[in-house]
Amino acid sequence: MLFADPASEGLMARKVILDVDPGIDDAIALCLALFDPRLEVVAITAVGGNCSPANATRNVQAIIEQLDPPRWPRLGAASPPDAGLPVNGRHLHGVDGLAGVEFEVAELHHLHPSEKVICDQVRGAPEASITIVALGPLTNIARAFQRDPELPSLVGEIVMMGGTVAGPGNITPAAEFNMYCDPGSAQAVFRSRSTKTLIPLDVTNRLVLSFDLLNRLPDEATRVGRFLRTILPPAFRGYRQRFGLEGIHVHDSVALTAVTEPELFSTEEMAGDVETMGELTTGMTIFDRRRVPSWRNNMEVATEMQVGAVTEAIIRGMNDAARRPKLP
Ligand code: RIB
Ligand code: CA
Repeated sequence: MLFADPASEGLMARKVILDVDPGIDDAIALCLALFDPRLEVVAITAVGGNCSPANATRNVQAIIEQLDPPRWPRLGAASPPDAGLPVNGRHLHGVDGLAGVEFEVAELHHLHPSEKVICDQVRGAPEASITIVALGPLTNIARAFQRDPELPSLVGEIVMMGGTVAGPGNITPAAEFNMYCDPGSAQAVFRSRSTKTLIPLDVTNRLVLSFDLLNRLPDEATRVGRFLRTILPPAFRGYRQRFGLEGIHVHDSVALTAVTEPELFSTEEMAGDVETMGELTTGMTIFDRRRVPSWRNNMEVATEMQVGAVTEAIIRGMNDAARRPKLP
């Protein structure tokens, strides 16, 4: 079950690590998370996927510089999966991962590897107080678990965007992109002892932001408004050219909303695993939904969401982010 966020009862903000492969929809999710008072973004860890690991690391730094959030989180550097990346997302996210804008980065810092940052942040916080929001391939999470075998039981919850339950894939007929990029890591995380929630394509595909969004963006005089107005028009063009769709998916913002507004989603406990060797099915997520299943349940899976309310929450989050005053 997705845990209700503590801040809504005036409690502490929820500590999160955002693991991202920016990627336009990752970048939108970062705009929401970095200014949301219900969240304390303790780290952003880059992972390759939509773009190369080096570009993902650079894009995380570029996004932070563009947005200049109230608190700058720890950053982690991406490194390629052991088997390399079989695919990238340039058809939708541009050659650099951020609509081809090639944002300047004033100061490229030397960063620790993402998996080290994840281990340090989880070990350095009270037990089960950290939520990892995994919005890209699961390479970093699996590596962190290899690096520190106790970590799965120390993490509060892992909320993952990816996979499919009954619907088709989006990078192959069978597989969703994040799982397909590194199926071995996805399988290791699925099979780990950690508390997991999956937000699959079956749910995130139901939300398409239409062109009307461009009239509801924050003012371009704000950092968030300027950033979104830079990356979104190419994203709409890419979706129209690729899919003939008059709108864009925002898979990662939907997954983030499942963390900040869990009451807008329904979940079901399921037993899931990942195919790692199929010629046609590599990266496919499989769930044992037989009348008498034999696999052990190992995660919550989102099965429904209130599309209208989630859409409004995302657009509201964009505008709230633009209004957030910098802390003194
Ligand atoms: O399949 C959609 C997912 O793959 C999203 O997280 C998108 O950013 C890409 O990483
Ligand atoms: Ca992503």
